[in-house]
Amino acid sequence: MKEKITLDNAASTVFAPQLVGLITTLDRAGQPNVATFAWVTSTSHDPELIAVSVSEARYTHECLTDEFVVNLPTKDLVEQVWAVGTLSGRNKNKFQVAGLTPIPSVVVKPPRIAECLTHIECRIVDTLETGDHTIFIGKVVAKSADFDAIKNGALNEHVEPLFHLGGTKFLSGRERIDVNKLAKGKNSF
Ligand SMILES: Cc1cc2nc3c(=O)[nH]c(=O)nc-3n(C[C@H](O)[C@H](O)[C@H](O)COP(=O)(O)O)c2cc1C
Repeated sequence: MKEKITLDNAASTVFAPQLVGLITTLDRAGQPNVATFAWVTSTSHDPELIAVSVSEARYTHECLTDEFVVNLPTKDLVEQVWAVGTLSGRNKNKFQVAGLTPIPSVVVKPPRIAECLTHIECRIVDTLETGDHTIFIGKVVAKSADFDAIKNGALNEHVEPLFHLGGTKFLSGRERIDVNKLAKGKNSF
């Protein structure tokens, strides 16, 4: 066994990579905003719930009053992900700045992002103050995707999702591992 060392890195970079989502909201004036969030996770199957942890410093925090959409960006959008994850929508239209296209959602008022692969539309049902962030819990009210995004219940093999390692670093890749297809003996515990 290798020697273990103690770390003072942020826990979010020790438990990494984390899948990146682009969250769209409407501000109080009804204008759409978009920002990058890595602290996003499913929390329940029935009802279907998704939680996102948002710092109070984000304009998105103010915009999360009712509904939001979690959009899945892929590797080709990494520069847009960085732009909308480092600029605030408080004084600018980040869709224009980053060249992202808002399209109407199926059920909720905040838009989907045309360039993203999948979209989960949510209505906020609960919030939880947690340290310097707030966890917003959304009930899933609609799901949609590019026609070829999902195959046999999982992201299609050509898709390269984007993960955040921390700071300016991201991870992407296409390797898929299906434990049912591992060589005999490797999956026989
Ligand atoms: C890869 C990445 C992941 C991020 N994840 C989160 C997150 O989970 N929670 C959060 O509050 N901010 C997160 N941010 C920071 C916000 O995206 C950033 O502050 C953004 O400018 C907020 O925009 P807004 O002020 O328009 O809401 C992340 C940024 C990047 C680049």
